[in-house]
Amino acid sequence: MYISAILSIEMALNLATIRRQFPILEEKVGNRPLIYLDNAATAQKPLAVLDAMRHFYLHDNANPHRGMHILAERATAALEDARASVTSFLHARHPREIVFTKNATEGINIVANGLGKKWTKGDAVVVSVLEHHSNVVPWLQLKEARGIDVEWIDVDEEGKLDLSSLDRLLKKGNVRLVSVTALSNVFGIRPPLEEIIRRAHAAGALVLVDAAQSVAHGPTDVAALNCDFLVFSGHKLYGPTGIGVLYGKESLLATLPPLLGGGMMIQQVTEQSFVPADVPARFEGGTPPVAEAVGLHAAIDWLLQFDWKDIADHERALLGLAQEELTAVPGLTILGPKDVAHRAGTICFTVDGIHPHDLTHLLGERGICLRAGHHCAQPLHARFSLPATTRLSVALYNTPDEIRSVAPAIRDVLQLLKAEN
Ligand code: ALA
Repeated sequence: MYISAILSIEMALNLATIRRQFPILEEKVGNRPLIYLDNAATAQKPLAVLDAMRHFYLHDNANPHRGMHILAERATAALEDARASVTSFLHARHPREIVFTKNATEGINIVANGLGKKWTKGDAVVVSVLEHHSNVVPWLQLKEARGIDVEWIDVDEEGKLDLSSLDRLLKKGNVRLVSVTALSNVFGIRPPLEEIIRRAHAAGALVLVDAAQSVAHGPTDVAALNCDFLVFSGHKLYGPTGIGVLYGKESLLATLPPLLGGGMMIQQVTEQSFVPADVPARFEGGTPPVAEAVGLHAAIDWLLQFDWKDIADHERALLGLAQEELTAVPGLTILGPKDVAHRAGTICFTVDGIHPHDLTHLLGERGICLRAGHHCAQPLHARFSLPATTRLSVALYNTPDEIRSVAPAIRDVLQLLKAEN
């Protein structure tokens, strides 16, 4: 069913050329090829990213916004060019709306810390059952510290959000923020963001979008979405670790206090007080991750050479093939949408009679890199009474042959366990 799609898409993307840009994909596990299908945890980095970071350290390294010499000027330009690139990547209005963070988690913490200072008992944050812990724990911390309520949008068996539960919560009139993922790291489903944002705004609530999982799989347009905040991490976008982005509407960011106090996030410091810098500097205390910003810039340039439609078609074809092959394994249950058209990035599954950790470990020994556990989404796993699942997640460099190797390996593992018992 997916074969003809896969063949034409392979030609559109030229997978062999793409894979040559990721030398790590040539690694071996014993004498078997390494098959990397753990891209939702972190994507591999193309040479373009590694080269850009190396070039920065070889030729431009200095502390930005602080020096008056040629290297400081180059480092400052590199950092601000990266900010401009992210501005355009997200379709933000101005670079002042782009804050460099350590990762998506830090971005959510900046918003929670800032908004939370204005909230009191009786105010509420709404999240969905799909959320990653990074979009749960900061709000639970505010529940502990400020007495706010954390309310939940439920999902159905396929992970579709129950928007009537959102409406019921919004009707109470105390919801200050709705904070939702753009793509579940477990179910691979995309909540209807436009609709959620429309309903939340109509009820006077702000909206934060956790785009950590979605940025590598399709375009992100904060202006069209009209979200108030959006976060992502560079390392899932073929960029380096140690850098993330918080987008916020400038008028909102300007009302938030900084999370981290330190150098360069101030206008003035006296012995007894300080005045924070304007946005975005007030959220970027300390020496910023310049080489990482350069790497993120290179990752964006690298990714944008491809057509988003080709990426989406290719990844959907891989997931469709995986779904088809895995479904045929006896005792294997796939979570999330049955129709692959509603899925992006990941497929989570369980197999009767074997713990996901054991299965994933044994597949790892065969060179197949998946992830097992609750994937930092314990409320979602608890909702479906699952202690853990195994997750396969794709990137644009994965091939149909890699996907085809998974189901036989699972059968092989099951056969082995049967023989042992
Ligand atoms: N958030 C990452 C994942 O889902 C680490 O695996």
